[in-house]
Amino acid sequence: MTHSGKRSRIAGLGINLPSKILTNAQLEKMVDTSDEWILTRTGIRERRIADDGETASTLAIPAAQEALRRAGVAPEDLDLIVCATSTPDMSFPSTACHIQRGIGAKGCPAFDILAACSGFVYGLSVVDNFIRAGSAKNALLVASEIFSRIVDWEDRNTCVLFGDGAAAVVIKATESSSHVIDSRIRADGSYADLLTGGGGSASIVSAKQFDPKSHFIKMKGNQTFKVAVTNMAEVCSSLLADNGYTANDVALVIPHQANIRIIHAVAKSLNIPEDKMYINVHRYGNTSAATVPIAMYEAQEEGRLKKGDLVLLVAFGGGLTWGSALVRW
Ligand code: UT7
Repeated sequence: MTHSGKRSRIAGLGINLPSKILTNAQLEKMVDTSDEWILTRTGIRERRIADDGETASTLAIPAAQEALRRAGVAPEDLDLIVCATSTPDMSFPSTACHIQRGIGAKGCPAFDILAACSGFVYGLSVVDNFIRAGSAKNALLVASEIFSRIVDWEDRNTCVLFGDGAAAVVIKATESSSHVIDSRIRADGSYADLLTGGGGSASIVSAKQFDPKSHFIKMKGNQTFKVAVTNMAEVCSSLLADNGYTANDVALVIPHQANIRIIHAVAKSLNIPEDKMYINVHRYGNTSAATVPIAMYEAQEEGRLKKGDLVLLVAFGGGLTWGSALVRW
């Protein structure tokens, strides 16, 4: 199949957030923590928690349907479905295949991307390359995470940080000036031990050795913080410079929402005013791969994304992985 448009336009967005809210005050009753500690160290006030029956795909489907509706694309017209998640429904079929069935699409390739909190930016880069190559013209990119299932609710170092949520974008091949300009995705596996989630073949599952905590997140938060700031700032700087832009050209940065202090440190390092950094970490905490598209959706709803704006996306996560994308809105 040949396509005339070779650039990627974000044509429609959707989100789906669980209605159940877990506040810092409620967490104070669960672990040895305080609203004051969580707020000053992370900026988080509350996060959403999925109901027991919810899975990554059931959370994603309404978000995908909203994005399709807003883009004016029918499910049967999709020629690519990519889902970024570290909390898939199961190891296989992929969550993307479950979403494909749930929205009534058929036949197109559907696969997951596992890049932890960088998953959406990774996915955007992959989809953009499919579109540039002429291999897709109507793609659905979804990020859906239920971290409440892999968080150790007895570990105050991690349980206060994460939340559940899903968001989706429909990306169309375009020749218009509104498109993904460029992206960079990176990884350094030598930092793998800084941030891990279990549940895979390395988890001990024999009856004798069963460790009920083997699928929980483990994080060396302090070290992760430092590497996050350095690498997020570096990848943004090089992406801007390689495309002939400076930080002054950027109208809005949509960063991964892990910690307000990381966002402020990245802004400082890039010399970008804090009011150009979109922040909603106080409402949802860290929803891993879903933070960037949820933030993008809310920024659009609030009128903070105007046609022609230069928008910089940046994320960082387990792997370690990180990446950035530059979008002309
Ligand atoms: O999503 C992608 C990857 N993840 C991240 O980007 C997360 C990066 N890291 C962070 O956001 C921060 O490092 C944290 C929020 C996780 C921790 O903040 P910090 O300022 O780096 O604190 P710390 O780890 O240096 O710990 C300071 C103290 C420790 O007590 P001691 O050893 O000084 O007595 C912790 O035990 O804070 C204690 N602490 C807590 N106290 C109250 C850790 N968690 C809590 C808590 N409530 N929930």
